Amino acid sequence: MSHPAHNGQMLKFPDGFLWGTATAPTQIEGHIYNEWTDFVALDGRTCHPACDSYHRYEEDIEWMRKLGVNSYRVGIEWSRLQSAAYAPLDEKEMARYVDQLDRLRAAGIEPMVVLHHFSNPSWIYSSGGWLADSTIAAFVDYAGKLARALRDKVRIWNTFNEPDTYASCGYLIGHFPPRRKGRLLAYRRIIRNMGRAHHRVCGMLREIGSSFGAVEVGFSKNWTFYEAYQSHLPWDVLLAAFTHSHLNTLVMENFLGGEKTTSTFLGINYYGRIRFRNFEPLVPAYGFTCDHLAKLGVHCDDMLERHPDGLELALKSLQAQCDLPIYLTEHGSASTDEVFRERDLKENLSALHRAISGGVDVRGFYYWSLLDNFEWQFGYTKKFGLVAVDFDHEALPRKMKPLGEIYAKVCRENALSSGSHIPDPS
Ligand code: FCB
Repeated sequence: MSHPAHNGQMLKFPDGFLWGTATAPTQIEGHIYNEWTDFVALDGRTCHPACDSYHRYEEDIEWMRKLGVNSYRVGIEWSRLQSAAYAPLDEKEMARYVDQLDRLRAAGIEPMVVLHHFSNPSWIYSSGGWLADSTIAAFVDYAGKLARALRDKVRIWNTFNEPDTYASCGYLIGHFPPRRKGRLLAYRRIIRNMGRAHHRVCGMLREIGSSFGAVEVGFSKNWTFYEAYQSHLPWDVLLAAFTHSHLNTLVMENFLGGEKTTSTFLGINYYGRIRFRNFEPLVPAYGFTCDHLAKLGVHCDDMLERHPDGLELALKSLQAQCDLPIYLTEHGSASTDEVFRERDLKENLSALHRAISGGVDVRGFYYWSLLDNFEWQFGYTKKFGLVAVDFDHEALPRKMKPLGEIYAKVCRENALSSGSHIPDPS
């Protein structure tokens, strides 16, 4: 697929646009005690020590400086900060996060802080997690304490990352802890409870405010298109419609519906599409090889089908639906083929630019991810980083990847331009 930047045209983004990277505590920090600690991924490894960013956040900020990003979507891990519901925040752990936030600001990098990214303290997890109504109040208490403590450090908050992924992987398909399958009522209950918590937290954070100006707060929806591979097979059409209604529509209703809209923005994590053939999702994440899928006309990275045109469509229809500014809080690809990844990035940035030119108010883009990291059920085999981490080496050395250089140019120029291509090794 070609895009304007390939034809020598420069695609400028709006002034003040945020160019960032994103990570999550369980995926990079290591030394973490939550429901993932004992979870053994498909590669036989655990989330410890991941990238050891718990100790190396200073070095990681240096990598961001080299990338030239002006924002970082960073998670704060609840399990580090409270030992029980309503407990005070742990001072030592707080000091570490404060130091990280101060260093980010000193580097000219605006933090967007994520409160919940697929993990909970063990005392929440063992008392029913998000199935229990009591979790809502405990989370609201935690978020309030955190926002008051960070009033002078943070202005942009992201409440929940991909509630649909969290609840479906844990309770419908059994890929995340607690590995339950087919629990539709549990899934719906979790979405409802997280939605209720989201509304309360949004109102509260806006009231607490920030010394940097008006607080921005929203959740991040994983926007995936679910379609039938062959539109004449009614069972796949039905499955796609059912999945869309539960994973997309239900979540939007619970988080943004009715008059309860308390968010100031909508976060979108966009990777692409899942098409079903005879009930099977045609994506590598479900065991198909990329080569096999390519023969079916399904073009994938190591996880999902790519669908850059869908990004423009999604942004237009979501803005029309909820009328909020949007941050693209995640996009990225996993592959060891950097030429493929460059093409994917440029196609998606072109689609993003088309959406913005067509009137969609998108305020920032966060590449997933800063570092190669612990990719949940898959362990360390999916390479999403702009910066490589060598997990076979005890020192976990980092190294800029070719895609990192390409992204740095985008950040520097606030534009997607032609020139500077990763040389194709073939
Ligand atoms: C998203 C998650 C993120 C990472 C990327 C690849 O769904 O939010 O943690 O796993 O996918």
